[in-house]
Amino acid sequence: MTDIIDGKAIAAVLREKVAVEVASLRDDHDLVPGLAVVLVGEDPASQVYVRNKGKQTVACGMQSFEHKLAPTTSEAELLQLVHQLNSDPAVHGILVQLPLPDQIDTHAVINAIDPAKDVDGFHLSNVGLLATGTPRLVPCTPLGCMILLQQTMEDLSGKQAVVVGRSNIVGKPMASLLLAAHCTVTIAHSRTQDLPGVCRNADILIAAVGRSQMITGDWVKPGAVVIDVGINRIDAQEGKTRLVGDVDFDSVSKVAGAVTPVPGGVGPMTIACLLRNTVQAACSASSLPFSM
Ligand code: GUN
Repeated sequence: MTDIIDGKAIAAVLREKVAVEVASLRDDHDLVPGLAVVLVGEDPASQVYVRNKGKQTVACGMQSFEHKLAPTTSEAELLQLVHQLNSDPAVHGILVQLPLPDQIDTHAVINAIDPAKDVDGFHLSNVGLLATGTPRLVPCTPLGCMILLQQTMEDLSGKQAVVVGRSNIVGKPMASLLLAAHCTVTIAHSRTQDLPGVCRNADILIAAVGRSQMITGDWVKPGAVVIDVGINRIDAQEGKTRLVGDVDFDSVSKVAGAVTPVPGGVGPMTIACLLRNTVQAACSASSLPFSM
């Protein structure tokens, strides 16, 4: 029997832990963690994500600061806002929603965020700390995937892990986290020779390519744990659309030992980890211990 990994339920447990921690920070230390989310432009998918982040931040007792800027915002204007948030003591975490409009240099903006408030873990210093094995703030989606793996498998040590996708947001930090957990890690991508064969070696297969239902059951080793990071909207019947992952769930779920569904797998974990990272940043700013 294939285990369907219930990311929705695991994320709900993590959010509850965050809420308990937030309540004790407020009661014992008069500290209310605050998360600022910046959205530039009107991309509909980004608007939905930002709204959900704000709602869940408030639901677990934290302060939410939303900044919505026009699509024509200049890089200088955005940098000015980032500097203002860096120096605001009520803001412990800053997230600038990506992608940014073409007139703005994404790297310049990310690296202008105070690394201690970089709850996305995208700042060069946080990337470097993770890559050298002393992580501070870790990117939310890979962190969520690790929590799902740790809850699904007894021991990750020595396992063959294949990450399909080499993005800075998911693929590369995911590989660093798996390496830190003592896996043998392969990063594969669209130019990998014999990609199905490489995937078939995996005890742990992470799909983060952004191609709907690309990974089919014949690419999967029997019993492997498959984590699907993809969120793709495809045409369904009667002119409607539906969300699917990078994994062909129907065929993979006949072969894998465990697999995440889309929706309800990795997606809910990403926001829960963002809330967790915000609490971590707030604790760190007040030199309070943090363990979650
Ligand atoms: N856009 C898609 N995923 C992310 C993410 O994890 N962080 C930010 N800032 N933007 C995103």
